[in-house]
Amino acid sequence: MKTINVDIKDVLATVSREDIACLEGKGAEALDKVLGGTGAGSDFLGWVNLPTETTDALLDDIIACADQLRATCDTVVAIGIGGSYLGAKAVIEALSDSFAAYRPGMQGEPKVLFAGQNIGEDYMYELQDYLKDKRFGIIVISKSGTTTEPAIAFRLLKEQLERQLGVEEARKRIVAITDAQRGALRSLATEEGYKTFVIADNVGGRFSVLTPVGLLPIAVAGFDIRALIDGAAEMEKATSEANEQNPAFLYACTRNALYNAGKKIEILVNYNPKLHYFAEWWKQLYGESEGKDHKGIFPAAVDNSTDLHSMGQWIQDGERTIFETVITVLEQKYEKLIPSDDANLDGLNYIAGKHIDEVNKMAELGTRIAHVDGGVPNLLISLPALREKYLGQLIYFFEKACGISGYMLDVNPFNQPGVEDYKRNMFALLAKPGYEKETEAIQARLK
Ligand code: PA5
Repeated sequence: MKTINVDIKDVLATVSREDIACLEGKGAEALDKVLGGTGAGSDFLGWVNLPTETTDALLDDIIACADQLRATCDTVVAIGIGGSYLGAKAVIEALSDSFAAYRPGMQGEPKVLFAGQNIGEDYMYELQDYLKDKRFGIIVISKSGTTTEPAIAFRLLKEQLERQLGVEEARKRIVAITDAQRGALRSLATEEGYKTFVIADNVGGRFSVLTPVGLLPIAVAGFDIRALIDGAAEMEKATSEANEQNPAFLYACTRNALYNAGKKIEILVNYNPKLHYFAEWWKQLYGESEGKDHKGIFPAAVDNSTDLHSMGQWIQDGERTIFETVITVLEQKYEKLIPSDDANLDGLNYIAGKHIDEVNKMAELGTRIAHVDGGVPNLLISLPALREKYLGQLIYFFEKACGISGYMLDVNPFNQPGVEDYKRNMFALLAKPGYEKETEAIQARLK
């Protein structure tokens, strides 16, 4: 069975196998908490057995809904933010043609666009302008059903869709994914009679990509969600025991050993531009799960070789508080060779006939050797190819490792109390009803 692999040999100049082994007891306790539900935040562990417990009936329902949207729309806008956005965006970008955004959307092959992941006025203006002659549909996703960014986007796009199609037709092209009972979005969906899917109470936003939250937009984009879930289910089984054959356990123990050795920043490195948003998803997963109680590895990311020409100097030679986790994609989908040129004015004939990916792999290897020599420990994660099954494995691998790693750090990996602080200030500044005291206090500070 092809599967992802974790190689830690290039961290051993900084932390020894013994340093890592010393943490295995703590790692085993952490894995027990994840599997047994005995740690903080245990009411948010619904993601742990999700891949093996996902029913065919649910997948059939999601695929039928996606087919319906594909048949009627040339564009589908997925509205959501944070965990209600990044997983779908990551998988769609990883699997899509790099120039999909520039090709016209077609019925049967709709373009999936995103909204509600920012509060950009120009973004919304331009999106609505683009949609004015499109046959579009909407997937609105919010677990709480009360998040401001997606609520604003939905208010605008719902009104536009109703104006373009009429209220009845618009209703058929809107799908809501939200809590089973609570929240403004659930009430609105019930009132309007939209097709809905439920985000289970026990699955937090950033762990929700393998629920309808991620699966519906991914299926609308035309990708195989069964293979995604199958890959995740393989990884669920491969990560159930506390030993070094469990890649999530090995990764969690190794990154905590590095953290204890003063490596406070982890840079997720890719050499494939299609993984840019995967890194964004990973940053949210680890940032919101671990950054608590003034602790936690800071998750950063670079896209190489692009960023070797911007961040490469810092990584090679800046403060030695970083380590890297490189994702290497072993097999490419297409072949493209470097041609020979008689004049050879660019001096490239020495690599003529080689695959572009061979050059990319040498850039990757050369950089890894240089960074290790420069004092930057490197973990290496190999991904057989950018395909649904392996992405499912990678997603679940990172989720499981995140739960283990968070418990090893003695934080609750499943809450995000810090995210509320900006909301309180924003609501106070906007004079939201119910925030009168906060409005008065914040206005006094601004005088
Ligand atoms: O991980 C999380 O819980 C958050 O990032 C949420 O996904 C994000 O804030 C969006 O929340 P909601 O789905 O309730 O709109």
